[in-house]
Amino acid sequence: MMSPIMDWDGVDVDQFGKSSLRIRHRAPETDLFSDAQLAKLIEQAPRKNYHVETMEKRDDGSVKRREGETGEASGQDALNAVKNGSIWYLILHPEEIDPRYGDLVDQIYREMADHVPGFKVAWRKISILISSPKINVGYHCDVPGQTLWQVRGVKKVYVYPVKPPFLHQANLEKIIMKEANEISLPYEPSFDDEATVYDLQPGEMLHWPLNAPHRICNHDCLNVSFTTEHGTADTRRSYVVNYANGVLRRSLGLKKLSQHDSGLAYWTKFGVASAYRLSGMEQKRSRGFDIDFKVDPSQPRGIRDIEAYELKK
Ligand SMILES: [Fe+2]
Repeated sequence: MMSPIMDWDGVDVDQFGKSSLRIRHRAPETDLFSDAQLAKLIEQAPRKNYHVETMEKRDDGSVKRREGETGEASGQDALNAVKNGSIWYLILHPEEIDPRYGDLVDQIYREMADHVPGFKVAWRKISILISSPKINVGYHCDVPGQTLWQVRGVKKVYVYPVKPPFLHQANLEKIIMKEANEISLPYEPSFDDEATVYDLQPGEMLHWPLNAPHRICNHDCLNVSFTTEHGTADTRRSYVVNYANGVLRRSLGLKKLSQHDSGLAYWTKFGVASAYRLSGMEQKRSRGFDIDFKVDPSQPRGIRDIEAYELKK
């Protein structure tokens, strides 16, 4: 692995995690994201470690997210389906197939720890996203700390403030308590007036504040990106406080709840969150998926419908 991977010149490290920050990187110079390498990942990813998905517009204008499988397509066929169709692949744990992805994520977090005062992660992971031209990822927020690394193609990224009306505390609590899917966050077109908007180019990454809502529109080209996710003592405290606030909002009907995360108030909320989780009252959502298409580069959207079956994850 070459060193260093990130270009820290001129980066305002005091803003790391406080406002959205675009930093240049050299991942496109590695051979970890070539067609041959991506085809290998698609072919070798065990079923539990990949999603291939599409969005389908229904007659009433609403959209439905569909899950599929690679089926008999070779890795290169699948890539061709992504290039010409309307689908995306998410490859989880690529380091299980090729340890160089593990080296990459190790190096990234080593550099962040070296440059950002006090930044220390408890865990981190890398996932690879290969998506068709013009694919959109709708308005949502993620629970862990997140960074998006652009390697091939260009995407427009809208990042919104972490406060109402963009993100209501109660909606974040629902996502953290797994009562709501992260893609069910309410969105209004007028929110865009307050968004910070980037055309993210190959060799640029974007790191935004914890839980910041965002949405993404691919330009008219194949996009290859990866995400890194991490947890720190701070993100853990924020998770615990929001979780406990969710419990208190439900059990006591409280409306005004502080997101303050230190001292006695924190430890009280730590107790509330732990008790609730231990009581088994946490929503146990089944993580099953209906698989209803196979990847097929000969079809216009890159998919062929099959009889649906359930995949337990
Ligand atoms: Fe996201």
